[in-house]
Amino acid sequence: MLKKQFEGLTFGVPKEIMGGERRVAAIPNTVKKLTEGGARVLLEKEAGIGSYFSDEEYKKVGATIIDDVQELFNQSDVILKVKEPLFNKDTEKHEVDMMHEGQTIITFLHPAAPSNHEMVKKLIDKKVISLTLDGIPRISRAQSMDALTSMSTVAGYKSVLMAANRLPKFIPMIGTAVGMIQPSTVLVVGIGVAGLQAVATAKRLGGVVYAIDIRPDAIEHAKSLGAKTVKTGVPADIAIGKGGYAQNLPKEWLLKEREAIKDTVVKADIVILTALIPGKLAPVLVTEEMVKQMKPGSAIIDVAIDQGGNCELTKGGEITEQYGVSIDGTKNIPGMVPTSSTWMFAYNIYNYAAAFVKDGKVVIDTDDEIIASSLVTMGGKLYHAGACEVMGLD
Ligand code: NAI
Repeated sequence: MLKKQFEGLTFGVPKEIMGGERRVAAIPNTVKKLTEGGARVLLEKEAGIGSYFSDEEYKKVGATIIDDVQELFNQSDVILKVKEPLFNKDTEKHEVDMMHEGQTIITFLHPAAPSNHEMVKKLIDKKVISLTLDGIPRISRAQSMDALTSMSTVAGYKSVLMAANRLPKFIPMIGTAVGMIQPSTVLVVGIGVAGLQAVATAKRLGGVVYAIDIRPDAIEHAKSLGAKTVKTGVPADIAIGKGGYAQNLPKEWLLKEREAIKDTVVKADIVILTALIPGKLAPVLVTEEMVKQMKPGSAIIDVAIDQGGNCELTKGGEITEQYGVSIDGTKNIPGMVPTSSTWMFAYNIYNYAAAFVKDGKVVIDTDDEIIASSLVTMGGKLYHAGACEVMGLD
């Protein structure tokens, strides 16, 4: 009889331990796919509770619920997680210290970020096979695995709702017995996946939506959703770099762009900031001077905060009020929509894992384009190019 794809493999899904993290790496539907494929699936007790998936639902599709997370790590061949391994206050052990040689972990590792270097060194020392979802290339074969894109979709949507909640006025135009209330103005800066979803959400709420990007393609996408666009004056050959992505602007062009967008920024009721350069610090596009001139009560949501933020005044992980403007530097916005983000994430990580399991074995072929850009450590060696560069290892 033909061996089932996952036969002989045990997948472990621990409960996420980062403060406020409500997502989980598997949903009952993806557990079912694994168990039907012959895998054993171990789930830490109440791992899905923050996303409203109960232990009972997981049990029905064949998962074994485990109370002792160290036991889950001991028995698993492949660990599926949302966030990078951290120190677990309950067990008083770092999650990497709970792992063993040859074990595989798939999660968002962000290995180049300085705050993760110690953790990456631990993965090297433990001789763990670690794979990072933020390394998945944007090729059509990998689209169903692209968790970064899924999470950007959530961040773009939720950012507009966060701003709407804080705004002291309506977003849509509303006719009342005492007169017409004019719609609010929503400016979205950076029209990638998150920005486009923000434009769509703001349009659905009835705002007057403006969009800014330095890539002509992004401007076309925004227009197709009915946004008004603002010219930055940055020529395409300066704006676009490798692979068609935006690149860091030389200082003179960044200053010109700030000048070009200033009037639109100061007039906006809501400013959603999502401008990023892959692998680099986010460009500062909204200055203190601009915030000073904004209307009191306006709201800025700096979705780019994980890469430093697009507004000079944003404080990471905090919501502050400065010059009467609320500036939101909330990190992990996707975690605030846990059911939808978990649903997408769980399918993405399942599709990724399934692509590299053959006959009950994890096959790491470094010649495969997807593996090559998402493999971080294996056999005591660091493979991730970005992390090698910043950590000075090869
Ligand atoms: P991103 O998150 O890296 O950046 C967001 C946006 O910021 C980009 O549109 C970028 O042009 C813009 N930006 C950078 N510097 C700026 C500046 N100085 N001023 C204004 N805007 C600035 O972008 P994301 O979400 O990764 O998307 C980039 C492109 O990749 C998009 O065209 C998207 O459709 C495409 N994409 C393709 C996928 C696939 O084929 N599987 C998946 C996801 C995205």
